[in-house]
Amino acid sequence: MSICRKCILNLKPYVPGKPIEEVKRELGIDDVIKLASNENPFGPSPKAVEAIKNYAEQISLYPDGSCFDLRKELANHLGVEPDMLIFGAGGDEVIFYLGMAFLEDGDEVVQADPNFAEYKAAATIMDCRTNMVPLQNWTHDLDAMLEKVNEHTKIFVITNPNNPTGTLVSADDVERVLDALPERCILFLDEAYYEYVDDPKYTRSVQWAKEGRNVLALRTFSKVYGLAGLRVGYGIGPKHIIESMERVRAPFNVNSVAQVAAIASLNDQNQVKRSREQNNRSKEYLYKELDTMGVAYTPTQANFLWVDTGQDCKKVFSDLMKLGVIVRTGDIFDCPTHIRVTTGTDEQNERFINTLRQVLGL
Ligand SMILES: Cc1ncc(COP(=O)(O)O)c(C=O)c1O
Repeated sequence: MSICRKCILNLKPYVPGKPIEEVKRELGIDDVIKLASNENPFGPSPKAVEAIKNYAEQISLYPDGSCFDLRKELANHLGVEPDMLIFGAGGDEVIFYLGMAFLEDGDEVVQADPNFAEYKAAATIMDCRTNMVPLQNWTHDLDAMLEKVNEHTKIFVITNPNNPTGTLVSADDVERVLDALPERCILFLDEAYYEYVDDPKYTRSVQWAKEGRNVLALRTFSKVYGLAGLRVGYGIGPKHIIESMERVRAPFNVNSVAQVAAIASLNDQNQVKRSREQNNRSKEYLYKELDTMGVAYTPTQANFLWVDTGQDCKKVFSDLMKLGVIVRTGDIFDCPTHIRVTTGTDEQNERFINTLRQVLGL
């Protein structure tokens, strides 16, 4: 007999992208590339690496639980008040804090499907129901999502750009949702890939937060800033939302090395610019090659591409892996012929395309 909370019995532990070392061990191959977790192929800013080295001898001390310096730098960078920010050990933790602070018995979450797994996990842990609304043309079907809003709805999620499809919802459309939501409901805008977006119609989340609207925008240092291994992300919201989330935040949740690395990364916007430029080059190359191969994909505003292989994705995944290329299968999103591939360096992109061509027999 299980003595744990009933609501978590159906919760499956998160399945991450397969680590390079695991593939090397399991398959006995040396030359492996990972394009599975939307990391930055160029790694972190050299300034962040330097800051980490300089800080190393101070790690016997607890971190600053309030992230004072990082908060100040980031508030300045975004043009918001410092108390409009909450930090987490990755954006993941911020998602859980949102659930812990606002979801109670009988509350519901509305989100798209397929979508990033952690919103549903956070709702399930709080014993709350999630209404999953199928994407239309691989993007949020906002009208259908709004139809699901009822007196129990507490959080409405827009993943912008969406994971796994890379599609965007325009700021005007987000604002339409914001205007339509009842007062008790929070609009959660997951903007983990914010820095990669080049569509001018993109978000006004900072402005909405400054206006005191019920929004929380999520961003992270894991993606364009290349600090995924250090775990640091943040939420931007009006004070009344941040203040509630601060009540459930674990003490010292963002480690000190992550804090100094994040500050150094913020101060190296050239690294962001270079990464965006490379991502745009990668997108162009992948589109061109996939078009030539006649393989369908969804144009992306992020650093990953949603590709319909037309074949069993698990087989495609395992054949690619045997040849040293790790991607993500679509079956975890109930899309049995899709894969999600992260954009890489020029060399990695070429290797992915050549290997995919071989695996698909094209
Ligand atoms: C849409 C989305 N949100 C949030 C996250 C969380 O990222 P992290 O916890 O590394 O900040 C991810 C990571 O892949 C993501 O894809």
